[in-house]
Amino acid sequence: MLLKLIPEFSNPSVCMKDPQRVQDIMESMAKAGSNTVQVISDFDMTLTRFAYNGKRCPTCHNILDNSDLVSEECKEQLKELLDTYYPIEIDCSRPVDEKLPLMVEWWTKAHALLVQQRIKKDHLALVVRESDAMLRDGYQLFFDHLHEHSIPLLIFSAGIGDILEEVIRQAKVFHPNINVFSNYMDFDDCGVLRAFKGELIHIYNKREGALLNSGHFEELRARPNVLLMGDSLGDLNMADGVQDMENILKIGFLNDKVEERKQSYLDSYDIVLVKDETLVVPNGVLLYLT
Ligand code: C5P
Ligand code: MG
Repeated sequence: MLLKLIPEFSNPSVCMKDPQRVQDIMESMAKAGSNTVQVISDFDMTLTRFAYNGKRCPTCHNILDNSDLVSEECKEQLKELLDTYYPIEIDCSRPVDEKLPLMVEWWTKAHALLVQQRIKKDHLALVVRESDAMLRDGYQLFFDHLHEHSIPLLIFSAGIGDILEEVIRQAKVFHPNINVFSNYMDFDDCGVLRAFKGELIHIYNKREGALLNSGHFEELRARPNVLLMGDSLGDLNMADGVQDMENILKIGFLNDKVEERKQSYLDSYDIVLVKDETLVVPNGVLLYLT
C-alpha cells in the first residue's frame, strides 16, 4: 500500500476521501516518469505560511498593507476592505457566482488605494525583508528538488507578482524552472506605481487566467501529469489550460474555517492538509515521483 511507501501520508494533518484514487494517480504518474510532470501551485497561504506561533502571516497584499509605503489613512481603508471581504472569501455557505463580483470589488478597490500611494519600486525589497511573510517549512527541498529534476513550476497567484518574486528571491530559491502568472505592478519612468498590468487575476478567475496563457501550456505539452497545490477552491481551476492532461493530483491546504469547509475540500482535493504549515507532504509526493 502506497500509504506505507510515503511515510508523510501518516501525518495527522493528512486527510483523503479516496486513498485508492491517490494511489492510482501516483502510480500512474511515477510510471510515466518525472520528465512528464509539471507542478502548478498557488502562492499565498499555499507556498507561504498561514500562521506562525499563532499569529497570521501576511499575503502579498498584506505585506504592502502593513508597510510604511502606505499612509495611516490608507492602512485603515485596506484593513476595512480585508475585514469586509475576507470573511466572504472563506464563506462556504455562499455560492461562487454570488461571491465572484464581490471579490472583483475587493481587488479593484485595494489596487486603486495602492496606486494612490505612489509606491516606489525601489522600496519593495525592503518591505518584503521586513515583513512577517514566510515560505512553509520544507520550501528549500521543494524548490531545489524541482529545479534539480528540471520539473517546471508554475506559480499562479491572485496576489502581487512583484512581491511574490521578491519573497522567493530573498529565500534564494527563485530558480529558472519557475514561471509566474500574477498581478504585476506597472511603474512610471520614475519607478512609481501607476497601475496594475493586464487582466486582473482574483481567486475565482484562475480558469480564465490559465486560458489566456495558452502559449505556456503549449510549451509544456510533453508534461501531461500535473501536481496541483492550492488553498482555495478557486485554485482548482489553475490547470484548466493544461493540454492533453493525463493525470492530476490535487493537494489542498485547509488553513481556516476547518470544520465548515472540510467536506467541500475533501470532495474536490485528492489530499487535504489540515492546519499543516509545512511542505512535508508535497515533498514526500515529489520524492516518490522522481
Ligand atoms: O496567491 P493567491 O492566489 O492565494 O492570492 C490571493 C489571496 O490574497 C487571497 O486568498 C486573499 O485572501 C488575499 N488578498 C489580500 N488582500 C487583497 C486581495 C486579496 O490579502 N486586497
Ligand atoms: Mg492562496
